[in-house]
Amino acid sequence: MALPLGGRGAPVHRPVLLRETIELLAAERGGLFVDCTVGLGGHSEAILQASSKAEVLGFDRDGEALESARMRLAQFGSRFRAVHADFRDITRVLATAKVKQVRGILADLGVSSLQLDTPSRGFSFRHDAPLDMRMDAASGDETAAELLGRLSEVEIARIIFEYGEERRARRIARWIVERRERGEPIQTTRDLANLVARAVSAKQRRIHPATRTFQALRIAVNHELENLDRFVADAVDHLEPDGRLAVISFHSLEDRIIKRTLGKLSGRCQCPPRLPQCTCGARKAVEILTRRPVTPDEKEVAGNSRARGAKLRAVRKLTTPIE
Ligand SMILES: C[S@@+](CC[C@H](N)C(=O)[O-])C[C@H]1O[C@@H](n2cnc3c(N)ncnc32)[C@H](O)[C@@H]1O
Repeated sequence: MALPLGGRGAPVHRPVLLRETIELLAAERGGLFVDCTVGLGGHSEAILQASSKAEVLGFDRDGEALESARMRLAQFGSRFRAVHADFRDITRVLATAKVKQVRGILADLGVSSLQLDTPSRGFSFRHDAPLDMRMDAASGDETAAELLGRLSEVEIARIIFEYGEERRARRIARWIVERRERGEPIQTTRDLANLVARAVSAKQRRIHPATRTFQALRIAVNHELENLDRFVADAVDHLEPDGRLAVISFHSLEDRIIKRTLGKLSGRCQCPPRLPQCTCGARKAVEILTRRPVTPDEKEVAGNSRARGAKLRAVRKLTTPIE
């Protein structure tokens, strides 16, 4: 079901670090850009507005998001094309589109407000719905409820601890598995939110007690950290000389992978110091444009709480890469 943009009750997603991203992509130069996570099309729209010679190939693995972006960006005619794909397949998708190199690539990772605010998608503890959380229901991924019904207590605890940084992960996992063993598996968002709220001490928490657990499950259901390093390397390969790659992440594990991979591609060896020879494959293919990640200022966070924790890193492809 496509949801319209604008008007009462329609989905709104405020693009994070918009001005900074467009500047780092140097979108005013025009050319072909790939928006790997087109979402509701906010960043794509700004790229298309930056130059009448800009074109965008927009990927998303969420068909509903893509439909909304298509409607929003129809005004740009053939300058915007939408592709229902996982950005980790960038090489295959570009080959099919007969595109070798592009001027810029953007990945704004994570989840969109459309996904969070559509109750039936099961991403949010704020609405009661089946515990789904899949960005692409056609992908064959298990739902969050199926995952909690299949994984061992140790595996559930690891996911909640690692991806959610939740101190009470073990207790939450134990309670989830106890429910399952009683023949009452967790099926809905409300069910899970209530269980987590009881399992953790809700006092003195700035955020809803289930926030971390929901984030962790979403990352696991959608394999969000898998092959991110390979994607970044592939993206750099598809940039033309002087082309730009910008990545916005919202999770410390994501940012660590992005930082390390971009470091390696800028020629900085990531091997442990005592190793006699470099084995990490560092090569000087890019110049880092953001020595420190760009983060939203207080004003942006005040107007858009989803921007909190965002980190933007960008690189420029070198004209003559040095091995
Ligand atoms: C933060 S939103 C992007 C918002 C967008 N920049 C805007 O301004 O509207 C992230 C989007 O990336 C999509 N996404 C996440 N992982 C993806 C992947 N591996 N491949 C393709 N799309 C993905 C999600 O479905 C979601 O729509």
